[in-house]
Amino acid sequence: MKSISLRLAAWYALAATITLACLFVVGYQLLQKYLVHGLDLLNTAEFQQIRARLGSDYATLDSAVIDERIRETTEYASVLFYIDIDSHRQDGILFYSNNLERRPIPDVKGEQFYNAKMKGIGELRVAEFPLPPFDVTVATPLRQIRKVMEAYVEVCSALLGAMLVLSVVIGVALSRVALRPVRLIHETARRIGSDNLSERIPVGQVRDEISELAQLLNQMFDRLEYSFNQIRRFTAEASHELKTPLSLVRLQAEKLLVSGALAPAHEEALQIQLEEVARLSRIIEELLFLSRAEARAITLALEPHDPVLFLQMFAQDARVLAEHHGRQFALISEGQGMVAFEEHRIRQVLLNLLANAFDASPHESLITLHSSVGDGVWRVSVADQGPGVPADQRERIFERFVRLDRQGGERTDGGDNGSGLGLAICRGIIELHHGRIRAESGADGRGLRVVFEIPCTL
Ligand SMILES: Nc1ncnc2c1ncn2[C@@H]1O[C@H](COP(=O)(O)OP(=O)(O)OP(=O)(O)O)[C@@H](O)[C@H]1O
Ligand SMILES: [Mg+2]
Repeated sequence: MKSISLRLAAWYALAATITLACLFVVGYQLLQKYLVHGLDLLNTAEFQQIRARLGSDYATLDSAVIDERIRETTEYASVLFYIDIDSHRQDGILFYSNNLERRPIPDVKGEQFYNAKMKGIGELRVAEFPLPPFDVTVATPLRQIRKVMEAYVEVCSALLGAMLVLSVVIGVALSRVALRPVRLIHETARRIGSDNLSERIPVGQVRDEISELAQLLNQMFDRLEYSFNQIRRFTAEASHELKTPLSLVRLQAEKLLVSGALAPAHEEALQIQLEEVARLSRIIEELLFLSRAEARAITLALEPHDPVLFLQMFAQDARVLAEHHGRQFALISEGQGMVAFEEHRIRQVLLNLLANAFDASPHESLITLHSSVGDGVWRVSVADQGPGVPADQRERIFERFVRLDRQGGERTDGGDNGSGLGLAICRGIIELHHGRIRAESGADGRGLRVVFEIPCTL
């Protein structure tokens, strides 16, 4: 069973039912003993009545006189009692109650109270009383007791069934109540991610194992948040600190180049250096942007724009770029409406997505920019006809420095000019617009389509 709540309910139901069953078994034994003891008392009372009827001279009586003195009494009680009187002296039974039909009640040597069975009568509870020189045996049918015990078993079985059902219901309800704090921990822990590390699990007033666990988890989140903040601060500060020395390196190199005092081979080396410095500066700028975006330290200058117009302008540049890369470009625009966004940031996103599509798709293939405004959302997608990205990697490509090779595996070499920050920047920008960005497979399962949505907050 997967759910701990169901397991707890099952254990509870089992424990409650077994306990009740044990009580019923003990109850069965006690009740039976009590009822049988009642029969023994009845038999004893009947014996006392017979002794009284026999009188004090009973020892001298013969069979006929005994019959005369107690026949009426035994007949009167014949529904309940079977009686015989055995004589040691005259070697035989002196008296049978009529319901015995001259058959002796079975004797068990050495026992005063015992159970016996007689053909045609059934089970009897027998009591044997010495009344020297006689033995008086009084027996009562056990039938009624057996019936009572059978009814007891039936009632107990029904009660056990009801108890099982009831305890399952109570168990489920109890385990739900008991596990509520665990569910709360589960929900909160699931919500906590790198973007909301400050959220904490609510800790209950009662000091118990669960609240201790919640406290421990909260302490772990404290440490995680601290480490995350340290990394963010380090990235921001390191990027910032690197900017100035890099500018100086670039300026010095440019000065050297302008002076014209270098040999052609040195000049070429310096050109390469300048290109690398430019690349490094770009990465640093991007890292700085990402750190600030994650720390929500960037405020966008949101202004209402018509997405259709904006995309028509962008498409002009996109077509030139596509032509330059030997690709085809198409813009499909649907819907009307105004959307608040920062033009140059969204342009940066689209350029990043286009650059990726150029990198991934084959020559002369089509890259489609699709835009639709409706239901309070501006939805834009860039789709290419390249190899696409395996489904399990489509979320990872938005992480920093993640770059995949053609087979969908992670690329570790520096490779071409890409740094693996493009999509992370896109996500940063779209999230600053309170939107979402994701990658999915292309229309006919071919290529990659990156979709972003921005709410029309006007
Ligand atoms: N359209 C696409 N088709 C196939 N793979 C893609 C596509 N877009 C992105 N990817 C994969 O996702 C990885 C990450 O993309 P991202 O834009 O973040 O980095 P990059 O393009 O490698 O470098 P940068 O954008 O920083 O120059 C890419 O390296 C590539 O493997
Ligand atoms: Mg890119």
